[in-house]
Amino acid sequence: MASVIARKWLLKKNYEGTPKREDLEIIEEELPPLKDGEFLVEAQWITVDPYQRIVTGVGNVIKGGQVGKIIQSKNNDFAVGDLIFGYYGWSSHTICDGNPVGHIHGLRKLDPSNPVPPSTALGTGDAVPATAYFGFLDICQPKPGETLVVNAAAGAVGSAVGQIAKIKGLRVVGFTGSDEKVAYLKSLGFDAAYNYKTISTITDALKESCPNGVDCFFDNVGGEFFESVLGQMNTFGRVAICGAISQYNALELPKVHPVTTIILWKQLTVKGFIVTRWLDQWPDAFKEMTQWIQEGKLQYKELVFNGFDSIFDAFISLFKGANIGKVVVKV
Ligand SMILES: NC(=O)c1ccc[n+]([C@@H]2O[C@H](COP(=O)([O-])OP(=O)(O)OC[C@H]3O[C@@H](n4cnc5c(N)ncnc54)[C@H](OP(=O)(O)O)[C@@H]3O)[C@@H](O)[C@H]2O)c1
Repeated sequence: MASVIARKWLLKKNYEGTPKREDLEIIEEELPPLKDGEFLVEAQWITVDPYQRIVTGVGNVIKGGQVGKIIQSKNNDFAVGDLIFGYYGWSSHTICDGNPVGHIHGLRKLDPSNPVPPSTALGTGDAVPATAYFGFLDICQPKPGETLVVNAAAGAVGSAVGQIAKIKGLRVVGFTGSDEKVAYLKSLGFDAAYNYKTISTITDALKESCPNGVDCFFDNVGGEFFESVLGQMNTFGRVAICGAISQYNALELPKVHPVTTIILWKQLTVKGFIVTRWLDQWPDAFKEMTQWIQEGKLQYKELVFNGFDSIFDAFISLFKGANIGKVVVKV
């Protein structure tokens, strides 16, 4: 069988501030013939995610999920033509031994009869839905009639959180970075949505849209956002710290204000989480969210970049706020 050249995106030097193209390099590697039990995956769809900015390692292939097609196999459980989801990162071709990579959901076959396109496995069948589902339901402990605030609200996680909250009977207020995204959030049923780049202050927007205060806050952004929303929270409010994207590229830490006093007096519960803590329950989230999608209760969007070489542009789009929904690359 003809040899296969794998192309891989490697981190060449640690990021300083916003990632730059020259921080990364694409290398080519001739792959050896398969051994018994191995199969060769050709990437079809590759995910880019904000965590890839902070989980780094010079000289390593950038880690992450991909949907791939098996093009050679010496493994009886995986046949040529099978579509799989695997944690093979930003790599065009990968030799696999049939064991999951990263964690227990790091390798699985995709159902070819599934009516949704395979790329959605990167959004609806991976960490994103589990993050939205467990981060909101488990950490925020929402009750019908309460008010949720979510930021980066038009993104993959944020848009799912807001929609789950509507399904659960909450009043939902979203913050995002463009008027187009505000219109999208309103189309999803958000009760109020703001372009944080054009409003006077987050506090004023919250006073207007949350006259009874904020009960649940799902924070994807951190920094000043975190502080502003805490100020409008009700006693016994719950805060899920999902991400801090405003800080990932920051060269200087923001000035810290004494938010502990607010947390104390309002008796808030503020919890950070990493989605892998619910790893054994992820299939529950995939199942229920897939059902909501099929019932039309949960909408899901993708921003697609084309070509293996476009991975960096796709990645950086997350920090420019170019996306509505999940950013994926069609290889
Ligand atoms: N804890 C976990 O286990 C876990 C798992 C997955 C993801 N996360 C976190 O969840 C958050 C959302 O991830 P995602 O994959 O769904 O990405 P995403 O929201 O689809 O994309 C990132 C969005 O963040 C916003 N953003 C970028 N830079 C910003 C800045 N400086 N200030 C304010 N907003 C900024 C942009 O939207 P705007 O137009 O609104 O600015 C952008 O579209 C991230 O913080 C990520 O690290 C955490």
